[in-house]
Amino acid sequence: MKQVMFYCRSGFEKECAGEIQDKATQLEVFGFPRLKNNTGYVLFECYQEGDADRLIREIKFNELIFARQMFAVATEVSDLPKDDRISPILEALVDVEGMPCCGDIRIETPDTNEAKELLKFCRKFTVPMRQALRGKEMLTARDSNRIPVLHVCFIAPGHCYIGYSYTNNNSQFFMGIPRLKFPADAPSRSTLKLEEAFHVFIPRDEWDTRLASGMWGVDLGACPGGWTYQLVKRSMFVHAIDNGMMAQSLMDTGQVKHHMVDGFKFEPQRKNVTWLICDMVEKPARVAHLMGEWLIKGWAKEALFNLKLPMKGRYDEVLQDIENLKDFLKKNGFQYKLQAKHLYHDREEITVHIQAISNISPH
Ligand SMILES: C[S@@+](CC[C@H](N)C(=O)[O-])C[C@H]1O[C@@H](n2cnc3c(N)ncnc32)[C@H](O)[C@@H]1O
Repeated sequence: MKQVMFYCRSGFEKECAGEIQDKATQLEVFGFPRLKNNTGYVLFECYQEGDADRLIREIKFNELIFARQMFAVATEVSDLPKDDRISPILEALVDVEGMPCCGDIRIETPDTNEAKELLKFCRKFTVPMRQALRGKEMLTARDSNRIPVLHVCFIAPGHCYIGYSYTNNNSQFFMGIPRLKFPADAPSRSTLKLEEAFHVFIPRDEWDTRLASGMWGVDLGACPGGWTYQLVKRSMFVHAIDNGMMAQSLMDTGQVKHHMVDGFKFEPQRKNVTWLICDMVEKPARVAHLMGEWLIKGWAKEALFNLKLPMKGRYDEVLQDIENLKDFLKKNGFQYKLQAKHLYHDREEITVHIQAISNISPH
Protein backbone atom coordinates (compact mmCIF):
# COMPACT_ATOMS: atom_id res chain seq x y z
CA MET A 1 0.00 0.00 0.00
CA LYS A 2 1.31 3.37 -0.99
CA GLN A 3 -1.39 5.94 -0.26
CA VAL A 4 -2.52 7.54 2.99
CA MET A 5 -5.79 9.45 3.28
CA PHE A 6 -6.00 12.45 5.60
CA TYR A 7 -9.22 14.34 6.37
CA CYS A 8 -9.09 18.05 7.17
CA ARG A 9 -11.36 21.08 7.24
CA SER A 10 -12.35 22.09 3.75
CA GLY A 11 -10.07 24.96 2.66
CA PHE A 12 -7.14 23.77 4.77
CA GLU A 13 -5.82 21.12 2.38
CA LYS A 14 -2.61 23.06 1.80
CA GLU A 15 -1.82 23.28 5.50
CA CYS A 16 -2.65 19.61 6.00
CA ALA A 17 -0.45 18.63 3.05
CA GLY A 18 2.46 20.78 4.21
CA GLU A 19 2.36 19.20 7.62
CA ILE A 20 2.25 15.63 6.29
CA GLN A 21 5.06 16.30 3.90
CA ASP A 22 7.20 17.54 6.81
CA LYS A 23 6.39 14.51 8.97
CA ALA A 24 7.00 12.05 6.14
CA THR A 25 10.34 13.65 5.33
CA GLN A 26 11.38 13.46 8.98
CA LEU A 27 10.62 9.73 8.85
CA GLU A 28 12.48 9.41 5.55
CA VAL A 29 9.33 8.26 3.81
CA PHE A 30 9.38 9.82 0.40
CA GLY A 31 6.35 10.82 -1.60
CA PHE A 32 4.09 13.74 -2.39
CA PRO A 33 0.64 14.99 -1.40
CA ARG A 34 -2.24 15.14 -3.88
CA LEU A 35 -4.78 17.78 -3.05
CA LYS A 36 -7.58 19.86 -4.46
CA ASN A 37 -8.81 22.97 -2.71
CA ASN A 38 -12.01 22.65 -0.70
CA THR A 39 -12.29 18.87 -0.95
CA GLY A 40 -11.68 18.25 2.76
CA TYR A 41 -8.97 15.65 2.22
CA VAL A 42 -5.38 15.10 1.15
CA LEU A 43 -3.92 11.90 -0.28
CA PHE A 44 -0.27 11.31 0.36
CA GLU A 45 1.35 9.12 -2.29
CA CYS A 46 4.43 7.26 -1.09
CA TYR A 47 6.95 6.11 -3.66
CA GLN A 48 7.62 2.84 -1.96
CA GLU A 49 5.26 -0.09 -1.50
CA GLY A 50 4.46 -0.65 2.17
CA ASP A 51 5.23 2.90 3.23
CA ALA A 52 1.55 3.75 3.76
CA ASP A 53 1.45 1.34 6.68
CA ARG A 54 4.70 2.80 8.00
CA LEU A 55 3.26 6.29 7.92
CA ILE A 56 0.08 5.43 9.77
CA ARG A 57 2.13 3.65 12.42
CA GLU A 58 4.93 6.16 12.77
CA ILE A 59 3.37 9.58 12.26
CA LYS A 60 1.95 10.30 15.69
CA PHE A 61 -1.63 11.21 14.96
CA ASN A 62 -1.85 13.36 18.11
CA GLU A 63 0.97 15.51 16.79
CA LEU A 64 -0.85 16.44 13.60
CA ILE A 65 -2.52 19.82 13.75
CA PHE A 66 -4.56 19.97 10.56
CA ALA A 67 -5.47 16.31 9.98
CA ARG A 68 -8.68 15.04 11.54
CA GLN A 69 -8.12 11.42 10.57
CA MET A 70 -5.57 9.28 8.75
CA PHE A 71 -5.80 5.82 7.21
CA ALA A 72 -3.78 3.70 4.82
CA VAL A 73 -5.58 3.23 1.52
CA ALA A 74 -5.90 -0.40 0.47
CA THR A 75 -7.85 0.28 -2.70
CA GLU A 76 -9.80 2.89 -4.62
CA VAL A 77 -13.00 1.92 -6.40
CA SER A 78 -14.85 4.07 -8.89
CA ASP A 79 -17.83 3.72 -11.24
CA LEU A 80 -19.73 1.70 -8.68
CA PRO A 81 -23.10 0.67 -10.11
CA LYS A 82 -26.10 2.10 -8.23
CA ASP A 83 -27.80 -1.27 -7.84
CA ASP A 84 -24.82 -3.09 -6.32
CA ARG A 85 -22.00 -1.13 -4.78
CA ILE A 86 -21.06 -3.88 -2.36
CA SER A 87 -19.79 -6.61 -4.73
CA PRO A 88 -17.13 -4.46 -6.48
CA ILE A 89 -15.87 -3.21 -3.09
CA LEU A 90 -15.56 -6.76 -1.77
CA GLU A 91 -13.84 -7.92 -4.95
CA ALA A 92 -11.36 -5.07 -4.81
CA LEU A 93 -10.57 -5.69 -1.16
CA VAL A 94 -10.05 -9.44 -1.44
CA ASP A 95 -7.06 -8.89 -3.69
CA VAL A 96 -5.23 -6.47 -1.42
CA GLU A 97 -2.19 -7.93 0.22
CA GLY A 98 -1.68 -6.74 3.78
CA MET A 99 -5.26 -5.60 4.40
CA PRO A 100 -5.87 -6.55 8.05
CA CYS A 101 -9.06 -7.98 9.46
CA CYS A 102 -10.80 -5.04 11.17
CA GLY A 103 -12.85 -4.68 14.32
CA ASP A 104 -15.07 -1.79 13.28
CA ILE A 105 -16.23 0.00 10.15
CA ARG A 106 -16.76 3.69 9.40
CA ILE A 107 -18.40 4.67 6.14
CA GLU A 108 -17.51 8.31 5.80
CA THR A 109 -17.15 11.23 3.47
CA PRO A 110 -14.83 14.22 3.65
CA ASP A 111 -16.50 17.11 5.48
CA THR A 112 -17.60 19.58 2.82
CA ASN A 113 -20.85 21.50 2.29
CA GLU A 114 -21.70 19.32 -0.67
CA ALA A 115 -21.18 16.14 1.32
CA LYS A 116 -24.42 16.34 3.30
CA GLU A 117 -26.37 14.19 0.82
CA LEU A 118 -23.52 11.72 0.56
CA LEU A 119 -23.45 11.40 4.32
CA LYS A 120 -27.08 10.25 4.35
CA PHE A 121 -26.14 7.55 1.88
CA CYS A 122 -23.09 6.56 3.98
CA ARG A 123 -25.32 6.04 7.00
CA LYS A 124 -27.74 3.83 5.06
CA PHE A 125 -24.93 1.89 3.45
CA THR A 126 -23.20 1.01 6.72
CA VAL A 127 -25.41 -1.89 7.80
CA PRO A 128 -25.38 -3.87 4.51
CA MET A 129 -21.67 -3.16 3.97
CA ARG A 130 -20.85 -4.32 7.49
CA GLN A 131 -22.80 -7.54 7.02
CA ALA A 132 -21.11 -8.26 3.70
CA LEU A 133 -17.64 -7.69 5.14
CA ARG A 134 -18.41 -9.92 8.09
CA GLY A 135 -19.54 -12.59 5.67
CA LYS A 136 -16.08 -12.48 4.06
CA GLU A 137 -14.36 -12.38 7.47
CA MET A 138 -12.84 -8.99 6.72
CA LEU A 139 -14.60 -7.65 9.80
CA THR A 140 -14.88 -9.44 13.13
CA ALA A 141 -18.31 -10.73 14.04
CA ARG A 142 -18.38 -8.41 17.04
CA ASP A 143 -17.02 -4.86 17.21
CA SER A 144 -13.53 -4.71 18.69
CA ASN A 145 -11.50 -1.60 19.45
CA ARG A 146 -8.25 -3.56 19.72
CA ILE A 147 -7.75 -4.19 16.03
CA PRO A 148 -7.80 -1.76 13.10
CA VAL A 149 -10.79 0.24 11.93
CA LEU A 150 -11.94 -0.19 8.34
CA HIS A 151 -12.68 3.10 6.59
CA VAL A 152 -14.71 3.46 3.43
CA CYS A 153 -14.48 7.07 2.31
CA PHE A 154 -16.92 8.12 -0.41
CA ILE A 155 -15.85 11.19 -2.38
CA ALA A 156 -18.81 10.68 -4.78
CA PRO A 157 -21.73 8.21 -4.76
CA GLY A 158 -19.85 5.79 -7.01
CA HIS A 159 -16.30 6.49 -5.92
CA CYS A 160 -14.59 5.55 -2.67
CA TYR A 161 -11.26 4.88 -0.99
CA ILE A 162 -11.07 1.90 1.35
CA GLY A 163 -8.43 1.33 3.97
CA TYR A 164 -7.66 1.00 7.66
CA SER A 165 -6.36 2.95 10.64
CA TYR A 166 -4.87 1.78 13.93
CA THR A 167 -6.99 2.39 17.01
CA ASN A 168 -4.00 3.53 19.05
CA ASN A 169 -3.03 6.10 16.42
CA ASN A 170 -6.19 7.55 14.89
CA SER A 171 -9.12 9.73 15.77
CA GLN A 172 -11.66 7.73 17.71
CA PHE A 173 -14.45 9.80 16.10
CA PHE A 174 -16.49 9.13 12.96
CA MET A 175 -15.02 11.39 10.21
CA GLY A 176 -12.61 12.59 12.88
CA ILE A 177 -15.33 14.83 14.33
CA PRO A 178 -16.81 14.48 17.83
CA ARG A 179 -20.58 14.94 17.55
CA LEU A 180 -21.64 17.43 20.21
CA LYS A 181 -25.01 18.90 20.96
CA PHE A 182 -25.27 22.61 21.62
CA PRO A 183 -26.48 23.03 25.21
CA ALA A 184 -29.57 25.23 25.07
CA ASP A 185 -28.59 27.19 28.20
CA ALA A 186 -25.03 28.05 27.03
CA PRO A 187 -24.41 31.74 26.34
CA SER A 188 -22.55 31.29 23.05
CA ARG A 189 -21.90 28.67 20.39
CA SER A 190 -18.17 28.78 21.05
CA THR A 191 -18.91 26.69 24.14
CA LEU A 192 -18.72 23.71 21.76
CA LYS A 193 -15.13 24.57 20.93
CA LEU A 194 -13.99 24.08 24.50
CA GLU A 195 -16.12 20.98 24.91
CA GLU A 196 -14.60 19.52 21.74
CA ALA A 197 -11.11 20.37 23.03
CA PHE A 198 -11.81 18.39 26.20
CA HIS A 199 -12.93 15.40 24.11
CA VAL A 200 -9.88 15.57 21.87
CA PHE A 201 -7.15 16.41 24.38
CA ILE A 202 -8.22 14.84 27.67
CA PRO A 203 -8.73 11.07 27.81
CA ARG A 204 -12.24 10.34 29.01
CA ASP A 205 -11.05 8.23 31.94
CA GLU A 206 -9.12 11.26 33.29
CA TRP A 207 -12.03 13.71 33.24
CA ASP A 208 -12.98 12.96 36.85
CA THR A 209 -9.56 14.01 38.13
CA ARG A 210 -8.52 16.66 35.62
CA LEU A 211 -11.87 18.37 35.12
CA ALA A 212 -12.98 17.90 38.70
CA SER A 213 -15.62 19.76 40.66
CA GLY A 214 -14.26 22.40 42.99
CA MET A 215 -11.28 23.27 40.78
CA TRP A 216 -10.53 26.87 39.84
CA GLY A 217 -10.19 28.10 36.28
CA VAL A 218 -9.25 31.44 34.76
CA ASP A 219 -10.96 32.38 31.50
CA LEU A 220 -9.15 35.18 29.62
CA GLY A 221 -11.46 36.87 27.10
CA ALA A 222 -14.47 35.20 28.69
CA CYS A 223 -17.51 37.14 27.47
CA PRO A 224 -20.30 36.26 27.06
CA GLY A 225 -19.24 33.03 28.77
CA GLY A 226 -19.38 30.02 26.46
CA TRP A 227 -16.07 28.68 27.72
CA THR A 228 -16.76 29.62 31.35
CA TYR A 229 -20.03 27.68 30.98
CA GLN A 230 -18.08 24.45 30.34
CA LEU A 231 -16.17 24.83 33.60
CA VAL A 232 -19.23 25.94 35.59
CA LYS A 233 -21.15 22.94 34.24
CA ARG A 234 -18.42 20.74 35.73
CA SER A 235 -18.92 22.45 39.12
CA MET A 236 -15.71 24.47 38.91
CA PHE A 237 -15.12 28.06 39.98
CA VAL A 238 -14.02 30.61 37.42
CA HIS A 239 -12.31 34.00 37.29
CA ALA A 240 -13.78 35.45 34.09
CA ILE A 241 -11.58 38.19 32.63
CA ASP A 242 -13.11 40.54 30.06
CA ASN A 243 -14.35 44.11 29.77
CA GLY A 244 -17.60 42.87 28.22
CA MET A 245 -20.75 41.50 29.84
CA MET A 246 -20.97 37.98 31.20
CA ALA A 247 -24.26 36.07 30.83
CA GLN A 248 -26.36 36.65 33.93
CA SER A 249 -27.22 32.94 34.10
CA LEU A 250 -23.54 32.20 34.78
CA MET A 251 -23.15 34.98 37.35
CA ASP A 252 -26.26 33.65 39.14
CA THR A 253 -24.54 30.33 39.80
CA GLY A 254 -22.21 32.03 42.30
CA GLN A 255 -19.31 30.12 40.74
CA VAL A 256 -18.01 33.01 38.62
CA LYS A 257 -16.04 36.12 39.58
CA HIS A 258 -16.01 38.66 36.77
CA HIS A 259 -12.92 40.92 36.54
CA MET A 260 -13.18 43.79 34.06
CA VAL A 261 -9.45 44.03 33.40
CA ASP A 262 -6.94 43.39 30.65
CA GLY A 263 -6.29 39.66 30.21
CA PHE A 264 -2.61 40.37 29.66
CA LYS A 265 -2.34 42.00 33.09
CA PHE A 266 -4.53 39.82 35.29
CA GLU A 267 -2.74 37.90 38.02
CA PRO A 268 -4.59 35.41 40.22
CA GLN A 269 -4.45 36.36 43.91
CA ARG A 270 -4.29 32.78 45.09
CA LYS A 271 -2.22 30.17 43.37
CA ASN A 272 -4.98 27.59 43.29
CA VAL A 273 -5.77 27.68 39.58
CA THR A 274 -5.81 24.41 37.66
CA TRP A 275 -7.15 25.57 34.30
CA LEU A 276 -6.13 28.58 32.27
CA ILE A 277 -8.36 28.95 29.22
CA CYS A 278 -8.01 31.77 26.73
CA ASP A 279 -10.08 32.80 23.72
CA MET A 280 -8.90 36.42 23.37
CA VAL A 281 -8.79 37.63 19.78
CA GLU A 282 -5.16 38.71 19.72
CA LYS A 283 -1.93 38.15 17.86
CA PRO A 284 -1.09 34.44 18.19
CA ALA A 285 2.54 35.08 19.16
CA ARG A 286 1.37 37.33 22.00
CA VAL A 287 -1.16 34.81 23.30
CA ALA A 288 1.35 31.95 23.10
CA HIS A 289 3.88 33.93 25.09
CA LEU A 290 1.31 34.85 27.74
CA MET A 291 0.40 31.17 28.16
CA GLY A 292 4.07 30.32 28.56
CA GLU A 293 4.46 32.98 31.26
CA TRP A 294 1.51 31.64 33.24
CA LEU A 295 2.80 28.09 33.10
CA ILE A 296 6.40 28.78 34.08
CA LYS A 297 5.22 30.96 36.97
CA GLY A 298 3.10 28.03 38.13
CA TRP A 299 -0.10 30.09 37.96
CA ALA A 300 -1.97 27.22 36.27
CA LYS A 301 -1.40 23.52 35.69
CA GLU A 302 -3.09 23.17 32.34
CA ALA A 303 -3.61 25.77 29.63
CA LEU A 304 -6.05 25.55 26.75
CA PHE A 305 -6.08 28.38 24.24
CA ASN A 306 -6.72 29.49 20.69
CA LEU A 307 -4.14 30.77 18.28
CA LYS A 308 -5.74 32.84 15.54
CA LEU A 309 -4.42 32.03 12.09
CA PRO A 310 -3.18 34.80 9.83
CA MET A 311 -4.60 35.21 6.30
CA LYS A 312 -1.40 34.01 4.68
CA GLY A 313 1.21 31.44 5.65
CA ARG A 314 -1.18 29.86 8.13
CA TYR A 315 0.86 26.67 8.66
CA ASP A 316 4.20 28.48 8.97
CA GLU A 317 2.84 30.99 11.46
CA VAL A 318 1.36 28.44 13.89
CA LEU A 319 4.38 26.23 13.58
CA GLN A 320 6.62 29.15 14.46
CA ASP A 321 4.46 30.27 17.39
CA ILE A 322 4.39 26.74 18.80
CA GLU A 323 8.14 26.25 18.32
CA ASN A 324 8.83 29.58 20.06
CA LEU A 325 6.57 28.59 22.93
CA LYS A 326 8.27 25.19 23.27
CA ASP A 327 11.69 26.88 23.30
CA PHE A 328 10.53 29.32 25.95
CA LEU A 329 9.17 26.53 28.16
CA LYS A 330 12.29 24.45 27.68
CA LYS A 331 14.65 27.34 28.47
CA ASN A 332 12.78 27.77 31.73
CA GLY A 333 13.14 24.10 32.62
CA PHE A 334 9.40 23.52 32.31
CA GLN A 335 8.32 19.95 31.54
CA TYR A 336 5.12 19.70 29.58
CA LYS A 337 2.96 17.81 27.17
CA LEU A 338 1.64 19.89 24.26
CA GLN A 339 -1.02 19.10 21.71
CA ALA A 340 -2.41 21.37 19.02
CA LYS A 341 -5.36 20.72 16.73
CA HIS A 342 -7.47 22.46 14.16
CA LEU A 343 -10.72 21.37 15.74
CA TYR A 344 -14.03 20.92 13.95
CA HIS A 345 -15.36 24.03 15.74
CA ASP A 346 -12.24 26.04 14.91
CA ARG A 347 -12.29 28.15 11.81
CA GLU A 348 -9.43 30.59 11.38
CA GLU A 349 -7.70 29.41 14.54
CA ILE A 350 -6.24 26.32 16.10
CA THR A 351 -6.57 25.11 19.68
CA VAL A 352 -3.56 24.28 21.83
CA HIS A 353 -3.41 22.36 25.09
CA ILE A 354 -0.43 22.26 27.44
CA GLN A 355 -0.24 20.18 30.57
CA ALA A 356 2.51 20.52 33.15
CA ILE A 357 4.21 17.15 33.21
CA SER A 358 4.38 16.75 36.97
CA ASN A 359 0.63 16.61 36.64
CA ILE A 360 0.67 13.53 34.43
CA SER A 361 -0.10 10.26 36.16
CA PRO A 362 2.40 7.43 35.46
CA HIS A 363 -0.32 5.22 33.90
C1 LIG B 1 -14.17 35.29 20.89
S1 LIG B 1 -14.64 36.23 22.25
C2 LIG B 1 -14.67 35.06 23.54
C3 LIG B 1 -15.87 34.17 23.53
C4 LIG B 1 -15.95 33.29 24.76
N1 LIG B 1 -14.87 32.32 24.80
C5 LIG B 1 -17.25 32.55 24.80
O1 LIG B 1 -17.23 31.33 24.66
O2 LIG B 1 -18.29 33.16 25.00
C6 LIG B 1 -13.21 37.14 22.62
C7 LIG B 1 -13.30 38.00 23.85
O3 LIG B 1 -11.99 38.41 24.20
C8 LIG B 1 -12.08 39.66 24.82
N2 LIG B 1 -10.75 40.28 24.81
C9 LIG B 1 -9.99 40.64 23.76
N3 LIG B 1 -8.83 41.17 24.17
C10 LIG B 1 -8.87 41.12 25.53
C11 LIG B 1 -7.95 41.51 26.55
N4 LIG B 1 -6.78 42.05 26.26
N5 LIG B 1 -8.31 41.29 27.83
C12 LIG B 1 -9.49 40.74 28.16
N6 LIG B 1 -10.40 40.35 27.22
C13 LIG B 1 -10.08 40.55 25.93
C14 LIG B 1 -13.14 40.40 24.01
O4 LIG B 1 -13.74 41.42 24.78
C15 LIG B 1 -14.12 39.26 23.69
O5 LIG B 1 -15.21 39.24 24.59
